[in-house]
Amino acid sequence: MNLKSLIRDIPDFPKPGILFRDITTLLRDPEGLRYTVDLFVQKIKDAGLTAEYIVGIESRGFIVGAPLAYQLGIGFIPVRKRGKLPAAVHSIEYALEYGTDCLEVHQDALHAGSRVLIIDDLLATGGTASATAKLVQKIGCKLEGFGFIIELHDLQGRKHLPDVPILTLVEY
Ligand code: PRP
Ligand code: ADE
Repeated sequence: MNLKSLIRDIPDFPKPGILFRDITTLLRDPEGLRYTVDLFVQKIKDAGLTAEYIVGIESRGFIVGAPLAYQLGIGFIPVRKRGKLPAAVHSIEYALEYGTDCLEVHQDALHAGSRVLIIDDLLATGGTASATAKLVQKIGCKLEGFGFIIELHDLQGRKHLPDVPILTLVEY
């Protein structure tokens, strides 16, 4: 299946100069959605990763992370933007391709030694994924790897990530 053909390009969103890679067109395609999750499962198995939890990054990381956790038979933990999680949180500041923000995870969701796989839709500058890695590593989790549907190669986000397997499905 050609995943790229299901991803839509929107120029100048959300700001002039950003070419937005829109996965809503992939998600609405039943075969595309199933293939995306199944391909991730295959790559995770091939890489020998044994995560106990998928850590999904708000918001598009939830859409692919939750069905992936379901399919793998493991738990899903949301990492959310500031002020969204109701119980006590660990927090970390981070920089985006456009703007800055703060990410949080519930303090009781993870503990030292938890094996986690971080999932998001897209790797751009790596700021979001790197901050999430720091957040889970600060807790003492074992980071098994990362998974992204899309990698924007020219932004060199990989350089900002720790040395663990980085699984990607499509590269621009
Ligand atoms: C997007 C995307 C990644 C992040 C990638 O999320 O879903 O999380 O940016 O950029 P980076 O590698 O430069 O950090 P966004 O913050 O736009 O939020 P959304 O998923 O809620 O749309
Ligand atoms: N998040 C950061 N950069 C992005 C891009 N170019 N397209 C879609 N989501 C993004």
